[in-house]
Amino acid sequence: MSSIPVIAIDGPSASGKGTVAQLVAQRLGYHYLDSGALYRIVALAGKQASIAWNDEAALAAMAAGLKIRFENGEILLDGQIVSEAVRSEDMSRGASEVAVHPGVRRALLDLQHDFRQAPGLVADGRDMGSVVFPDAQAKVFLTASAAVRAERRYKQLIGKGNHANLAQILADIESRDARDMQRSAAPLRQCEDAILLDTSELTIDQAVETVLQHASKTIPA
Ligand code: CDP
Ligand code: CDP
Repeated sequence: MSSIPVIAIDGPSASGKGTVAQLVAQRLGYHYLDSGALYRIVALAGKQASIAWNDEAALAAMAAGLKIRFENGEILLDGQIVSEAVRSEDMSRGASEVAVHPGVRRALLDLQHDFRQAPGLVADGRDMGSVVFPDAQAKVFLTASAAVRAERRYKQLIGKGNHANLAQILADIESRDARDMQRSAAPLRQCEDAILLDTSELTIDQAVETVLQHASKTIPA
């Protein structure tokens, strides 16, 4: 067990995990792990290599050898920037399809553990507190109503000049939530030792302050 502190932030799509986790990491000077990006990269690399998203053995073998780097806010796969490519709606669905396979999840474990470096780590995803960092010093289950989350995703897409359909986004979020919660390998759930933080009515700053306050109780300054 490592004594390097980890703050694990898990929750459903568009609950604000990434935004809140990055701000908490900045405030504490910690490293940041966007674990969802790894599943998105597996989906993208699978597509590029013509491996079907239901082919567990081939995906797991490929995932173990992927050369992934996070640098200056960009995601690199084999030296190529894929930050935008992995954020597409197609890759959101693909990530949740490849993420059901235990072999794929196992292949990504060491890579995630390597992010635990001094002075600490803030990690966001679906199983940070339950599987990847079960000994995390602070665990948060971040959520918001599906309607609020769909609205947030809609505004994000429109803000980037994309076409977006609110009803379609809500349907996609609900089907991804269902797949993430119902799978047998590392399903999305609130850990017993995680605090529940519903951000439906909270600003980003309020959510960040709540996480920092919780972490300050369990992580020595
Ligand atoms: O990482 P995750 O999919 O959980 O969500 P995100 O990408 O961090 O957040 C989705 C959007 O919701 C972003 O545009 C955030 O700025 C916004 N947000 C918000 O409006 N209020 C919050 N309390 C948290 C996030
Ligand atoms: O940003 P958003 O919350 O929409 O998605 P993400 O965090 O990038 O994750 C994309 C997909 O990867 C999720 O729907 C999950 O199926 C999967 N995932 C996972 O299984 N375990 C994680 N720790 C992170 C993501």
